[in-house]
Amino acid sequence: MASQDYLHGFTKKEQDRLIHQARFLEPYVYAGIDLEHTARLLEVGCGVGAQTKIITRRFPDLKIDAVDLSKDQIATAKKNLAPEIKSGQVRLFQQDALQLHMKDAGKYDSAFLCWFLEHVPKPLEALKRVRKQLKKGGKIYCSEVFNQSLFIEPYSPAYLKYWFEFNDYQWSIKGHPFIGAQLGHLLKEAGFVDIQTEIRPFHFDSREPEKRAAFAEFFFQILLSAEKTLLAEGRVSPEQIQRMKAEVEICKKAKDSVFFYSFMRATARVP
Ligand SMILES: C[S@@+](CC[C@H](N)C(=O)[O-])C[C@H]1O[C@@H](n2cnc3c(N)ncnc32)[C@H](O)[C@@H]1O
Repeated sequence: MASQDYLHGFTKKEQDRLIHQARFLEPYVYAGIDLEHTARLLEVGCGVGAQTKIITRRFPDLKIDAVDLSKDQIATAKKNLAPEIKSGQVRLFQQDALQLHMKDAGKYDSAFLCWFLEHVPKPLEALKRVRKQLKKGGKIYCSEVFNQSLFIEPYSPAYLKYWFEFNDYQWSIKGHPFIGAQLGHLLKEAGFVDIQTEIRPFHFDSREPEKRAAFAEFFFQILLSAEKTLLAEGRVSPEQIQRMKAEVEICKKAKDSVFFYSFMRATARVP
């Protein structure tokens, strides 16, 4: 996978950000995910194995086959998951989800996708492929972005303009920054049943100032992960980035500021 086709790129800094992101969001991403009855899990778009590691800790009895398209991500995942690979709990595969063909197709109890479908040009095709790997009755868990929902108070025009360019750029490289809202009909179209979708908001104000500051900073780092690309594309200017930084500082510190973002969780079953 060429790095220009992937918004965040494959630098060491970005790979470290994925590990931090998975840990930071763990209480929110895993709330309501019950893999107790899963013996074999397929994780698609595993990146550097950040979620894989968390899943093995939370559910030590299951076995994971984890797939990513990028050689670089798989190479780093191999290092991050060395003990789990050695013990046979995890196997890694470099494959394109759009041509997913696991040797053990039809044997997986569940599939886990996290911050992944937004990066795939044909998310419906990816979901159809995942369905074919699952057993009858197998379950899929998707946690995906809905970037339209990001808002900070006080009103922050430089931040919102940068965010528009971030999402517009992702759209231009055939990504899907608003895919969370589409999960229900994509899963239906891909042949899943018992589809449940949930809005999962992060909404922090003066009642929880530490969390508000932590989330404002965390999302700021996500925005900055595309800084070089957006500058090179001429979509943002250094001055605009300075203004955005000042706005984020206000959101982190002002007494009556608000941070809001919502991701989407969808679960469904193979009939
Ligand atoms: C934002 S990362 C998320 C990684 C991981 N799920 C996590 O939460 O840390 C998205 C990953 O999807 C992978 N990816 C993008 N397109 C893919 C495709 N067609 N098939 C498999 N993996 C793909 C990228 O290489 C990247 O590692």
